[in-house]
Amino acid sequence: MKVNCELIQQGAEARIYFLDYIGFPAVWKERFVKTYRHPQLDERLTKSRMKAEVKAINHLKNKSAFLSKSMPTILGVSDSSIIMTRIENAATFHEAISSEFFSLQDLFQRVGMVIAEVHKCGLVHGDLTTTNFMVKNDVSAIVPIDFGLSSFSTTPEDRAVDLYVLERSLLTSGRDDSDLFSNFLLDKYKKEMESIGISVANAIVSKLDEVRARGRKRDMVG
Ligand SMILES: Nc1ncnc2c1ncn2[C@@H]1O[C@H](COP(=O)(O)OP(=O)(O)OP(=O)(O)O)[C@@H](O)[C@H]1O
Ligand SMILES: [Mg+2]
Repeated sequence: MKVNCELIQQGAEARIYFLDYIGFPAVWKERFVKTYRHPQLDERLTKSRMKAEVKAINHLKNKSAFLSKSMPTILGVSDSSIIMTRIENAATFHEAISSEFFSLQDLFQRVGMVIAEVHKCGLVHGDLTTTNFMVKNDVSAIVPIDFGLSSFSTTPEDRAVDLYVLERSLLTSGRDDSDLFSNFLLDKYKKEMESIGISVANAIVSKLDEVRARGRKRDMVG
């Protein structure tokens, strides 16, 4: 397919283009061939990531009254590409954190709420980094993206790992956001998860402590 499009990002796994798709501002995410991988394995991984991404986005669109409107609409899919509607007037959570435009406490609380919503819909994200949320400039919505590693799971372990990955991703920003993470993001997340059961929320938070301890041990061993 060749249409008028602009390369926005070349990552390790995918190229992102902005394009106009029959009048809609859209994003074309193309997972390219990785020559360092065995061709059959590469093809299998690419297909499974595309499938996981489409399934998760559609699931949240159908299942979550809270996220449904802001999630992108899938416009087209192939084995290696997805075209979806563009989230406009938005920055990544990573960018939003260093912008003085946003109230950080509010931002972190809202992100906690979004993660709880994803988890309450039965999904875990699998790669919850700060570049995988889009924040609308007027903060009317925070949209999780990049669901290629997502899966359907409700275990405290998988949910805690999502939180841990985000906590680690915040650390690499070079700022100390641990207070914002614990007192706003995690606090809000926990309150939201308590709506399905206090024991459910408590189990995730104690799992997070275990996952953190495992991480520290791994860091020490190197
Ligand atoms: N629907 C969308 N609307 C607007 N921007 C988007 C959309 N999807 C992706 N982007 C932009 O493209 C970037 C990369 O997209 P995505 O995270 O899906 O791919 P990726 O290759 O896995 O990237 P990364 O390696 O940074 O995680 C996002 O951080 C965001 O800036
Ligand atoms: Mg990403």
